[in-house]
Amino acid sequence: MKKSVKILSLILALIMAFSISVCAESGYAHTEEDLKAFLPRWNTIQADYTVISLTPGREAGEINFAWLSATESESFRISDNRDMSSAKELEVHQEKAINGLISNNVTATSLEEGKTYYYSYTENGVFSEPEKLTVQPDENFTVLYISDAQIGRSGDETLEEVLVRDTCGWNYTVDKMTTEFPSAAFVISGGDQFQSPDSLTQMKAYLSPEELRSLPVANTIGNHDDDSTLYGDIFNNPNEVKELFSSEAGTGYYYTYGDVLFITINTENTSLTDSQRVIRSAVKAHPDKKWRVVTMHRNPYSASLSDDDFSDIRLLFSSLYDCYDIDLVLSGHDHLYSRTKVMYGGKEADEGTVYLQTSSASGSNYDPLPEQTASFIVSAFDTRVPTYTALTFGGETIEVSTYRTDTDEIIDSFEVEDNTSDSKSNIFTVIFSIFRTLFSMI
Ligand SMILES: [Fe+2]
Repeated sequence: MKKSVKILSLILALIMAFSISVCAESGYAHTEEDLKAFLPRWNTIQADYTVISLTPGREAGEINFAWLSATESESFRISDNRDMSSAKELEVHQEKAINGLISNNVTATSLEEGKTYYYSYTENGVFSEPEKLTVQPDENFTVLYISDAQIGRSGDETLEEVLVRDTCGWNYTVDKMTTEFPSAAFVISGGDQFQSPDSLTQMKAYLSPEELRSLPVANTIGNHDDDSTLYGDIFNNPNEVKELFSSEAGTGYYYTYGDVLFITINTENTSLTDSQRVIRSAVKAHPDKKWRVVTMHRNPYSASLSDDDFSDIRLLFSSLYDCYDIDLVLSGHDHLYSRTKVMYGGKEADEGTVYLQTSSASGSNYDPLPEQTASFIVSAFDTRVPTYTALTFGGETIEVSTYRTDTDEIIDSFEVEDNTSDSKSNIFTVIFSIFRTLFSMI
């Protein structure tokens, strides 16, 4: 009797431990063996808050760097040679950062296409081992898109096992996509990089994949990044546009690569004039780029939404994209893959914008697919494994394919056609566009 009670208690304890530590909505591609192999890296990752982040610069041939330090006397060098001979010292701009730390920002310019460089920076006064960096061409290039790595989302984020699991999932995805696309020019992240906006632990985890020492990532402000300066401290974004109602994390920004204008919107700021200013500044600076691609965390046409969703996200932002001839919008937030028809004025059209929403990049959380999706959805998947999307530019269309990280299977593939025209937009055309979208839903 005593023995059976003990066994029952043990089973209950195991069930409780399992239910506490494994969130039902998470799901990974990595195995238990992968997790075990990853474990020894965790302490090394957490020991280094000076880990560097790379972001795209204003254009191809420019890369931005940022890292945190305790001291103000930091340096950055870049060289053609691994031994750092003839290294060029670049200016380091410093600002006060979270927890009394310093945010160090550097921009490397005039980098040559196809050339390999080595860079080294001081970590509290001591130079790091040189990191290798190859500049990818800006013609016929591939960009990888992911969202919601959201390290710490799969359970109680104060538990190390939760963070380790999500970080292992994120590293697995980065490893997988860079193995499949070793020459990707850069990565775009659709937001929610961390679960808690001010967590240095989660920041270090997000930046931990070794591949990110040579691969820039254009990050987006998500609802989990919004309430702290940490996002702005560690991501050195190009062409930040001044916003009246900017969040603590920062503002929208833009950059180009080849014939593509990339615009990143801060959807946590729903001020129409601020978002219009970001898009207008970008388009005014680069009116002739063939492609216009927007990244925003929340999706106006998510598979989680209905046909008659009257939210400001749909009314304001989709109307702006109609006015500024945006070809493709990349989002996340709902942790569910979906892709729309070509949309204009709130309904399907021959010319307009395609809205793609990707699922979790780490496996830390998924949202369920509704039983019935809205009429604007072409495809939607609740994969329960991390996915990534490859966008290839260079032809007459943008080729877009989304891959599962467990089987490498393509779950969705399509082409985006050019939607850019010479139409002029101002606040009046935007307001007209909002009413057009509103009336299409009534
Ligand atoms: Fe999220």
